[in-house]
Amino acid sequence: MRKIRVDLGERSYNIVIDNNILKEIGTALSKFEFSGKIGLISNPTVYNLYVGVLSESIRASGFDLVEIIIPDGEEYKSLSSMQDIYGELLKAKLDRISALVALGGGVIGDITGFAASTYMRGIACVQVPTTLLAQVDSSVGGKTGVNHQLGKNMIGTFWQPEIVWVDIDTLMTLPRREFLSGFAEVIKYGVIWDEDLFDFFEANRDLILDLDRDALTYIIKRSCEIKSEVVSKDERESGLRAILNYGHTIGHAIETVTGYKKYLHGEALAVGMHLEARLSRMLGFIGAEQVERIKAVIGLYELPLELPSEIDPGSLLEAMQLDKKTVAGELKFILPERIGTVKIHSGVSPAEVKEALKNI
Ligand code: NAD
Ligand code: GLY
Repeated sequence: MRKIRVDLGERSYNIVIDNNILKEIGTALSKFEFSGKIGLISNPTVYNLYVGVLSESIRASGFDLVEIIIPDGEEYKSLSSMQDIYGELLKAKLDRISALVALGGGVIGDITGFAASTYMRGIACVQVPTTLLAQVDSSVGGKTGVNHQLGKNMIGTFWQPEIVWVDIDTLMTLPRREFLSGFAEVIKYGVIWDEDLFDFFEANRDLILDLDRDALTYIIKRSCEIKSEVVSKDERESGLRAILNYGHTIGHAIETVTGYKKYLHGEALAVGMHLEARLSRMLGFIGAEQVERIKAVIGLYELPLELPSEIDPGSLLEAMQLDKKTVAGELKFILPERIGTVKIHSGVSPAEVKEALKNI
């Protein structure tokens, strides 16, 4: 078992990573001082695959399990789902020392974290992420939330989990497109922080795409270590944590203008990482050969690189200006200087952004 500590004083916690460990979650939960009731939140897809082993383990450790299933899909990451969840928690009489367990991808993780942070002014939360994106990113760091009809992730809290329990074997049932989309976040860590990790992507494509357990363990562990280090230094994103948004300024805008239908998050992020690397090159911050390496790795993992022609750069720019990362109208970009190092850069002109968006 690999353990990574997220160091946040009295809110510190472990990320536990291994194969075939869902069956041990009950023992892990019994080490905390939770009361007898555990609320499990999942969706039908993940529930049908994994609830058997998980619930057996939790019940065998003496907990009473309350299962709450919400439909599968980003559109259910909403305040309306929260109403249903609060209702179920109240009816089942979960109390202030009960815990909620999130079993699923980032949607379930964000909803469960938000429910835990607000139910009875805050109860414990345990993350059991089952997508690659959730295992390397969303389950760690405490960002929770739901979407509003006027914007994604606009309602939310910072609420750190008590533990993150990563069973790599759950990735074996993940659709390939979802795996590749999650891999975009892994590429991000290589570019922003760790050239050795990036070298690993270049050298081990087949192992990674064949879901080799050792290769997966390495990339997940390294990604979690990087996220943990960044979050430990800047939990509330007043500075350093913004580097985790590399590729996201353009990526989020792509998701917005395409109505969250054409691209999975990591696919839009992949285009964003490529175009933001190109922007960095245009501004003279990074060498052409480094941009080529970033582009090549994104392509190697079958992720898109360019904007489709039907996306108008003007509407993309408008979406960027409305993003919550934009403060006082200043567009902020995380720009690579070389693989492994980025800078936070404000004050890029709209004309420069439009130039970088061009398919060249
Ligand atoms: P998701 O949760 O929608 O999961 C993708 C699909 O995979 C779903 O259909 C799900 O049912 C299915 N699935 C999950 N695990 C499976 C498994 N093991 N086998 C088979 N199918 C499985 O999507 P996601 O990409 O995991 O997460 C995206 C969400 O995460 C977005 O809402 C995004 O805003 C959020 N997010 C949050 C943070 C954060 O820091 N909190 C960071 C990044 C993304
Ligand atoms: N996914 C970006 C962050 O957690 O800050």
